[in-house]
Amino acid sequence: MGKRLIYFDNAATSFPKPEEVTRAMVHFSNEIGASPGRSGHRLAIEAGRVVFEAREGIARLLGLKDSSRVVFGLNATEGINQGLKGLLRTGDHVITSSMEHNSVMRPLRAMMKEGLEVSIVPCSQEGFLDLSEVRKAIRPDTRMLVLNHASNVVGTLQPLAEIGEVCRQQGVLFFVDAAQSAGAIPIDMHREKIDLLAFTGHKALFGPQGTGGLVLGERVDEKELVPVKRGGTGSRSEQEEHPDFLPDLCESGTPNALGLAGLLAGLEFVMKVGIEEIRQQEKRLTAKLLQGLREIDGVKLYGPGTAEKQLATVSFNIQGMAPSEVGLRLDEDFGILCRVGLHCAPAAHRTLGTFPEGTVRFGLSYLNRAEEVEKALRAVQRIARGEA
Ligand code: ALA
Repeated sequence: MGKRLIYFDNAATSFPKPEEVTRAMVHFSNEIGASPGRSGHRLAIEAGRVVFEAREGIARLLGLKDSSRVVFGLNATEGINQGLKGLLRTGDHVITSSMEHNSVMRPLRAMMKEGLEVSIVPCSQEGFLDLSEVRKAIRPDTRMLVLNHASNVVGTLQPLAEIGEVCRQQGVLFFVDAAQSAGAIPIDMHREKIDLLAFTGHKALFGPQGTGGLVLGERVDEKELVPVKRGGTGSRSEQEEHPDFLPDLCESGTPNALGLAGLLAGLEFVMKVGIEEIRQQEKRLTAKLLQGLREIDGVKLYGPGTAEKQLATVSFNIQGMAPSEVGLRLDEDFGILCRVGLHCAPAAHRTLGTFPEGTVRFGLSYLNRAEEVEKALRAVQRIARGEA
């Protein structure tokens, strides 16, 4: 990345990646290259080991013992689609929130047309889910609650343990979209009583795009899980029927082993630094950014507004300016890269009161520096004063 640039679009995808991620992918490409779980030769075995270690890494990250319950796919969206379409049936009732990304809303909207019943629980203007509203929405036929852990627009963190407890008491499956949070904040599927979790590799786990998937807790019975795709798995090749065991049940076709080599290196980076340390550094950056933005005349902040209750994702607007205009000035005049508009989450923006224009979003990561936040604050100030 050019030295001049400040990359604040980590909520979309983290960049740059740690050097070891690039190195691992170059090594895989140059020295391994084979298809995992297919042929029996040494390079295929080595590729299989890389995929297995990435699977083990994700299981360890989330406090899961059995890594065969980690199903790899392209991204969190694929994991969400597999979880929703694989388990829900016509007539089931599902609860979600008014802060969801389209990766949850769009599959649910399509499934509603086929008879799924969906309740959308309203969140506060800061994006928090109200537990009493969740309790009220639960019905005898409620099968699942699906919710993002952290908003991709304003970083709002939902109290997973409390919500998980309510779901468990009521016999409702708890499905967490951890696209923004996996790698940035500790998650334990047992402690938080999470039954399904969708993750992506290319955000806080510092892996490449094209890695992610679904993790299934012990309460999910794979016998009830319908795969969204079927095909070659490298296992039970004599059968024309698709295997009924995990992870093969939900993984078919040659996987993105090159990407998973990068994801494994990203996971190792996160483990080496420590998620607690990552969280502390992101909180320091977020607090600095929030405080600085608050001091600029004409800036309006959205979301919790406190680093303790959100990820390092901060949304704001400048009075009298469209978010797209602010984004253009930041990019062209200051080399600051961020995402503006609706962030694929129109429901969340309606909740925040920022629909249809949206917001300017700064998505920071552990790898950003305090000086970059200071430079960005000076840039926002100049734009707000009409100096840029
Ligand atoms: N969901 C990603 C974002 O929020 C792409 O930008």
